[in-house]
Amino acid sequence: MKNKKIITFGFFALFTIGNMNAQKKPYLDKKKTIEERIELLLPLMTLEEKVGQMNQYNGFWDVTGPAPKGGTAELKYEHLRKGWVGSMLTVRGVKEVRAVQKIAVEETRLGIPLIIGFDVIHGYKTLSPIPLAEAASWDLEAIEKSAAIAADEASASGINWTFGPNVDVANDARWGRVMEGAGEDPYLGSKIAIARVHGFQGETIADLQKVNKIAACAKHFAAYGYVEAGLEYNIVDISNSKLYNSVLPPFKATVDAGVRTFMNSFNTLNGVPATGNVFLQRDILKGKWKFDGFVISDYASIREMIAHGYAKDEDDATAKAVIAGSDMDMESYLYVAKLVALVKEGKVKEALVDDAVRRILRVKFELGLFDDPYKNCDEKREKATIGNKANIDGVLDMAKKSIVLLKNDKGLLPLKKSGQKIALIGALANDKNSPLGSWRIASDDNTAVSVLEGMQQYKDNQLTFEKGADLIVGKTSFLNEVIFNTTDKSGFEAAKTAAKNADVVVMVLGEHGFQSGEGRSRTDLNLPGLQQELLEEIYKVNPNIVLVLNNGRPLSIPWAAEHVPSIVEAWHLGTQTGNAVAQVLYGDYNPSGKLPMSFPRNVGQVPIYYNKYSTGRPIDSDKNVFWSHYTDVEKTPQFPFGFGLSYTKYDYKNLKLNKTVFAKGENVQISVEVTNSGNYNGKEVVQLYIHDQFASIIRPIKELKGFELINLKKGETKTVNFTLTDKELGFYDNDGNYLVEPGTFKIMVGGSSDKGLESGFELN
Ligand code: NOJ
Repeated sequence: MKNKKIITFGFFALFTIGNMNAQKKPYLDKKKTIEERIELLLPLMTLEEKVGQMNQYNGFWDVTGPAPKGGTAELKYEHLRKGWVGSMLTVRGVKEVRAVQKIAVEETRLGIPLIIGFDVIHGYKTLSPIPLAEAASWDLEAIEKSAAIAADEASASGINWTFGPNVDVANDARWGRVMEGAGEDPYLGSKIAIARVHGFQGETIADLQKVNKIAACAKHFAAYGYVEAGLEYNIVDISNSKLYNSVLPPFKATVDAGVRTFMNSFNTLNGVPATGNVFLQRDILKGKWKFDGFVISDYASIREMIAHGYAKDEDDATAKAVIAGSDMDMESYLYVAKLVALVKEGKVKEALVDDAVRRILRVKFELGLFDDPYKNCDEKREKATIGNKANIDGVLDMAKKSIVLLKNDKGLLPLKKSGQKIALIGALANDKNSPLGSWRIASDDNTAVSVLEGMQQYKDNQLTFEKGADLIVGKTSFLNEVIFNTTDKSGFEAAKTAAKNADVVVMVLGEHGFQSGEGRSRTDLNLPGLQQELLEEIYKVNPNIVLVLNNGRPLSIPWAAEHVPSIVEAWHLGTQTGNAVAQVLYGDYNPSGKLPMSFPRNVGQVPIYYNKYSTGRPIDSDKNVFWSHYTDVEKTPQFPFGFGLSYTKYDYKNLKLNKTVFAKGENVQISVEVTNSGNYNGKEVVQLYIHDQFASIIRPIKELKGFELINLKKGETKTVNFTLTDKELGFYDNDGNYLVEPGTFKIMVGGSSDKGLESGFELN
């Protein structure tokens, strides 16, 4: 009875405090709409507090960029207490998040909660495959689920907001950040971008209130994927046609999917830094696309406009960024230092500050942070969620779906499950760190299941492991360069002996997980270190090799493509790498991945991509040198976009269109029959490409405009239907107008971008 009274009193007290708060802080009234609450709060804010909302600081330990001068913990705490910080990044864990949130909510005048951001790129602690690998699954449902797992874990650890998805279309494998995106194609990239936004945020904005959802961030706006020569942070100089048709579509798709934030990029676009780019951020994003969330700068990118030679000093960089619509300053320390004075001097209009603050507050309200600033601060949930069985199973599933079978000429795969002597060779086979990839700040080192551990689960074969040679020298980390072993071959002999005595050799070769990602551009796409030499030495003693590639970008492997009978693309598959690889090698999972980026024959072909243009001399009609080609290597890729084999075989037949002549606006209906004519059940990605054969601005010779992932039991046939509408048949002109032009179209349907059944139609 006594207890009941206390409870009643407690409830009454809480209610009264809440009510008092609502009177003193009318924006806490949940009955009001979000827009009403914003308009109740904004007039109460001083200019300093408004600018504070536009300021984001890094946490106190991990950094994901250059550490700024003067960015001490003391300064951050002082600014937090004054209400001069709207967000923090890379603070993680319930305890740490609660501590900073408490300062914002309880020690500042208005108690505006922080929004806590983090690079949840391919998982939080339980890691999925790197995003490029996930893209190879072409499985939108699985990709959405993978993002949902990441959101689940991150949100349980105090995080409200991820800096993902990266939707940069990219076709230059020299650029290390191709691992973060969905590859070279804007159509596939757009579909994947939507799946990732929904996975992080939920299907609707209302879902953001849920405890296991976080705000997403489409990045890097824009064209970062086209840095010249694949050189990190370099300039971008591209045509309007490329911008409108290749770069922007995935960004637009995320806006339509409800993404709540955007991040701009380090690069200049045709001479103007993205961070100070009025055309990109104000005209297109906030104007044409009506995006009402907020834009965060990239790490120190506001200050970097000075080094670019676009802003003359800190004041100028600050003003240019705000005017261009960069709403929040990540780690430049400029808005907080300069913006108040610039407004007072009339150099930046306060209305622009108000616009930025409204956007930031909107997202905070949508996340429910005003109603419960500690919604992601539940230690019990943190413990129960991170690394739980469902999440482990989920990333394993995603990892298997991401694997691409590139070659299986002699049928070495799937491996027999018993009576085999298997030599497993390569330092990466026994590596528990590299498979985690490069974005894994919340994960512990050496926590991946290695390929060796995965293979050891299959106990009825005789397995021996030899590294052959170390891949790297010393330790490596997110912040440091990888140094390769180029001299120590002392393990070669033992590896050769193991290979000689084996029925099958499985070699795990490629790049270390820290060799791709931000700041990791390369000019050499061959197998690094001593690996090519090791491969050729092993081949001499036993050519029955299954090559398992680990890499964060397309590699050039011309020798292996010619000589090695089986090649499996296994990327960096995250926490469950070894189990996924072993299950595929042993046939417990039939691979169905398809490449989301073309693999070059050598680095000189880069950038190489399937959706290229014809040129005026596409073929050798006169048997002389005057046609578009290289004199030293074929111009086709080693492995094209959309390519990937299976343990079974798929036959395509009966490609049909409902008509051959269409009026503009009419739907083109296409069907094709696909049969599994091999010996395993499997999945196939059926792909539809179009070619608009002549247009006012030339169109690529192939453009992906539809795909479907189908399950086919052995012997089974399915009919797959596609519909082409104006949305797929048009393109953007150089002013950004969408045009559907009459003319003839070719279509191709198949299991890869390089071949398939062909047909065509006319559009009037
Ligand atoms: C710089 C990277 O470009 C960006 O993608 C990332 O989100 C930020 N650093 C924060 O770590």
